[in-house]
Amino acid sequence: DLQRVAEANVPPAHFGYIMTGVDGESTYRHNREGLERLRLRARRLVDVSQLDTSVELFGRRWPTPIVVAPCGSQRAFHPDGELATARAAAALDHLQVLSTVSSTSVEEVNEARGEPVWYQLYLAPVGPGSWEGATALIQRSVDAGCPTLVYTVDLQGGSNRLTGQRWERLDDRDCTSCHRVGGQAHPVKPMLRDLPRGEPDPGLGRSTTWDTLPRLRDVTDQNFVVKGIMTGEDAELCVRYGVDAIWVSNHGGRSEGSGRATIDALPEIVEAAGSRLPIIVDSGFRRGSDIVKALALGATAVAVGRPYLWGL
Ligand code: FNR
Repeated sequence: DLQRVAEANVPPAHFGYIMTGVDGESTYRHNREGLERLRLRARRLVDVSQLDTSVELFGRRWPTPIVVAPCGSQRAFHPDGELATARAAAALDHLQVLSTVSSTSVEEVNEARGEPVWYQLYLAPVGPGSWEGATALIQRSVDAGCPTLVYTVDLQGGSNRLTGQRWERLDDRDCTSCHRVGGQAHPVKPMLRDLPRGEPDPGLGRSTTWDTLPRLRDVTDQNFVVKGIMTGEDAELCVRYGVDAIWVSNHGGRSEGSGRATIDALPEIVEAAGSRLPIIVDSGFRRGSDIVKALALGATAVAVGRPYLWGL
């Protein structure tokens, strides 16, 4: 229902940005198919009069396992953008995670949320490509009080977002007041605008490896989460590198085509991480029963992206 209202109200290029996956949208479909294929084993005559849906993450208890995933550029969907999201998250006390490419600064979002959000970090190609820029961005989130840094690792090779490109062609508005023409597709975002440029660091970008994790951990005491993990092998590496929580995600089907559903990747990741780390999962979660399935398979919490963007 929200998706239809968004399609009717949001400019075509911006609606395409919400909807797009990659290539022929196979990973986007697989996320839903994976969830729908699983069946529940319903037990009867259990006292369900007192339900506790709360979950604990890093010592903070949340009344719901539903997390507001980091999504960029939210003013493209509503003039209040991330501030409206923050007010909604505050109303029901959801954990909100703010994107590096937000259209509002972390300080303003924290004020609207009423407490510091978790901060999502992109390094090059989407975020800073210099170590100086990266550390300045992290420090700004620390200064704003953000207790947790979520490092997203699933766009390192870029992503082929054909559906988004098609919707852009249907949009005949003049986009030059917000978007640069030619060159970079997006305007410089508030959190990236004032960063020191610094020397481009060859270790940040396409050649980034796991060695970046200790470097990042050295510059902050924040809880450190890695977002975009899809295999047991990488979950083991997360454990070995001392990550504090794993975020299972294929970016809502936006990172690579022919990917598995996150719900299908979850069991091997839970097995590799054991009970050592909290596990957050997202991509395609739309119903309460989807969330039940993830929690039953060992996830600690479930994040959603597009549904709240449609709501905006
Ligand atoms: C995203 N996502 C995302 N992730 C991230 O780490 N940083 C970001 O800036 C963005 N931006 C973004 C924009 C839009 C329009 C979408 C739809 C998604 C991915 C997001 O955090 C989450 O992983 C997915 O949205 C989850 O899948 P669903 O719920 O959208 O199916």
